[in-house]
Amino acid sequence: MRTSQPQTIYLKDYRVPAFLVDHVDLRFELFEDGARVYSLLSMRRNPDSDGSDTSLELDGDSLTTLESVSLDGSELAKDAYEDRTDRLVVHDVPDQFELGVVTWIEPQNNTRLEGLYKSSGMFCTQCEAEGFRCITYFPDRPDVMARFRTRIEADKASFPILLSNGNDVEKGELDGGRHFVTWEDPFPKPSYLFALVAGDLVEQRDSFETMSGREIDLRMYVEPRNVEKCAHAMDSLKRAMRWDEEVYGREYDLDIFMIVAVDDFNMGAMENKGLNIFNSSCVLASQETATDQAFQRIESIVAHEYFHNWSGNRVTCRDWFQLSLKEGFTVFRDSQFSADMGSPTVKRIEDATMLRTAQFAEDSGPMAHPVRPESYMEITNFYTLTIYEKGCEVVRMIHTLLGADMFRKGSDLYFERHDGQAVTTDDFVRAMEDASGRDLSQFRLWYEQAGTPELTVRDEFDQGAGIYRLTIEQVIPDTPGQTNKKPQHIPFAVGLLGAGGESLPLKLSAGETDAPTDRILELTEASHTFEFHDLAERPVPSLLRDFSAPVRVYYPWTREQLMFLMSHDPDGFNRWDAGQRLAVDVISELVGDTGNEAIDGGLTDAYRGLLSDVSLDQALVAKMLQLPSEAYLIELAEKPNVPAIHQARERVLKHLAAALRDDLLACYRRNTVEGRYEVTPESVARRSLRNTALAWLLHIDDEEGRSLAVSQFERADNMTDRMGALRALVNSGYEQARDEALGAFYERWKADPQVVEQWFAVQSGSSRTGGLPKIRELMEHPAFDWKNPNKIRSVIGVFAGQNLPAFHAEDGAGYRFLAEQVRRLDDSNPQIAARLVSPLTRWRKFAPVHGEQMKTALESIRDKSGLSRDVYEVVHKSLA
Ligand code: ARG
Ligand code: ZN
Repeated sequence: MRTSQPQTIYLKDYRVPAFLVDHVDLRFELFEDGARVYSLLSMRRNPDSDGSDTSLELDGDSLTTLESVSLDGSELAKDAYEDRTDRLVVHDVPDQFELGVVTWIEPQNNTRLEGLYKSSGMFCTQCEAEGFRCITYFPDRPDVMARFRTRIEADKASFPILLSNGNDVEKGELDGGRHFVTWEDPFPKPSYLFALVAGDLVEQRDSFETMSGREIDLRMYVEPRNVEKCAHAMDSLKRAMRWDEEVYGREYDLDIFMIVAVDDFNMGAMENKGLNIFNSSCVLASQETATDQAFQRIESIVAHEYFHNWSGNRVTCRDWFQLSLKEGFTVFRDSQFSADMGSPTVKRIEDATMLRTAQFAEDSGPMAHPVRPESYMEITNFYTLTIYEKGCEVVRMIHTLLGADMFRKGSDLYFERHDGQAVTTDDFVRAMEDASGRDLSQFRLWYEQAGTPELTVRDEFDQGAGIYRLTIEQVIPDTPGQTNKKPQHIPFAVGLLGAGGESLPLKLSAGETDAPTDRILELTEASHTFEFHDLAERPVPSLLRDFSAPVRVYYPWTREQLMFLMSHDPDGFNRWDAGQRLAVDVISELVGDTGNEAIDGGLTDAYRGLLSDVSLDQALVAKMLQLPSEAYLIELAEKPNVPAIHQARERVLKHLAAALRDDLLACYRRNTVEGRYEVTPESVARRSLRNTALAWLLHIDDEEGRSLAVSQFERADNMTDRMGALRALVNSGYEQARDEALGAFYERWKADPQVVEQWFAVQSGSSRTGGLPKIRELMEHPAFDWKNPNKIRSVIGVFAGQNLPAFHAEDGAGYRFLAEQVRRLDDSNPQIAARLVSPLTRWRKFAPVHGEQMKTALESIRDKSGLSRDVYEVVHKSLA
């Protein structure tokens, strides 16, 4: 626990490590009441350091007992080292030596889920970012890379499976019913990639032949009850392995690749070398228990962790300021993969939605930070949407600027040049520059400057000259610690449409022949004017196609233009975006209105067109039918009044549902077809359309809708449809049908934690059922578990993040509730506690009635004694 004020760590203070570790020899003795860890480090002075350090300093955290320290085989006297709990200092070490350390730790009491801990009876680890120091004293920083040999000893009956990184090289029996397995990882790696698993698990096997003809053993380890839920992850893994060979030329390097599912896990998953560990909810799936969304998320996370083997493990980060080096690049790789496996347009829409709703919010709040931060207090607070999602967009823009071929040359050069090294984002950009010959010096500002660029677009048409002028101005708003920012290098994709919807050639000079109908304009100045020639009439601009940069675009679109783009833009993303902008415009106009303002009939017509036109790409239609979320509307608003936004959106939804009732029923019927369950863009779209239609019908308490929902709920052969029906009922006025369905659902699935999590979330996220009393009731439910992050997220996290009218209730009860839960969690799991604070951090954005109460809630967290460093950082930065 913290005793003094947390320290800030700065990028500018980076020093190379004073000592390196060549080899680590670990031995774990696992017992019910603790674990003894023997560590033998082969160390030497770093030739690149200045050599001034005479003492060796190792990191440690929450280590119960330091049992002994030895140097070159002799146990050290107590005065030869200092045990400072978070640091072991060994005095007067030679240039080369072997350091032995024995620690006793208590995984069974580890509720932080960092380091070695127990989950459903099994031992497992999470070492990124700084969990290895909770296992033993070590130079726990990513630029210290060593070869690991790990021997695990445990009771054979309780822990028949013993896993670590690399290859199993030895195994055997021990006295007292115990056994051991020794693992050796031939690749040097930082300690954050170390992993250990011990448990009573079943193994699912498969294999993969690499491009050079090597046979890789693929193994999944799960609890016996989950064997039926492995196939999808295994298939996803094989697709990812093939894809990485084909698209990036990357082949897997070990002989075994293992995946383990763990119920208690702080994050989604972890790319430990050869032994990826997953949150059960991000890897286990069956048609009956997982929704389409879950299937897709699993495919992308399995791929993400696998891709890290190159972008993260073979080439790793020099320090944690470089986190986006591996995360931004790997998210980009997994997003390309998902696009290739499904619908690229839909994937782009999903990514942009996440970015514009949540990352933009982060980027304009008190925790805003650059993709490469300058400082942090607690690194786990920096596993953010900015590092991951904006970091991905930054890599995507390099891809856009260089083109696919040059980008591939750049990535080849990066992997070749830095294999086995711990490097920086700047090394990545330099490889891209060197391979392509392009100058990315201004582009580097994307890594250095926080904040979402705002682009204001004006246009004029010179009828006489046939010239259309687009003027684009960029401004980057101030963020904590950063003002007066420089213009960034922004790829801005555009097209122009003629009155009949045709794509016009984009001639940058008069008479230009073979001009393309799509161009990437490169913005580098605060303001640019582009001229397009030989135009007979004023075109309709299609701006920032495919969301070519993570920026906000302001342009005075008329509703006619938006409706025109909705039906004519050849860029699928912008078709969708036009629909979103139209809906935002219509909803925003109604916010705070007393109910007299008429709802624009154009919106109804546009949605009717979408519902009935079967010639359109149904995957895109399914996305276009989703109204902008409350979270997005709030993000766009200044001083948002959340209940008023909620009311306005509900009014539009009800209006559309009533006006389109027959079209919705027709859409529902058309998309209800018998057939085998598959997760293809077409069938996902069909289920999405059917369930959207159902949700809308129940929103207006349509009787026919109700009976369709009840029968779909009872008969569905997959979780997407069952959950679609349940969600529709939960959000309807049919209380009895809702309660019956919720009860039946729980009875059927109560033994399955992944399904129970969904059952919690559908209630805590609903503004119909999920007021605070409901949330408290769910927290009293026997299935709720304070030690399980997924349960906390699905009840408390979903309430604060999705049930916005309840969270922002006028009396501030939602805020006080959240603060109370954060204070409670702070001691047991600070990482999760710090994440839960997030909805309160934006108190300045809201109208004072709300903002003041949010601030008071933050202060009540700040004043808790013994506050963790994690929560301290978020709360203090938010109140600063
Ligand atoms: N590297 C992991 C991933 O993105 C995330 C690990 C995060 N762990 C943490 N303690 N914050 O796949
Ligand atoms: Zn990652």
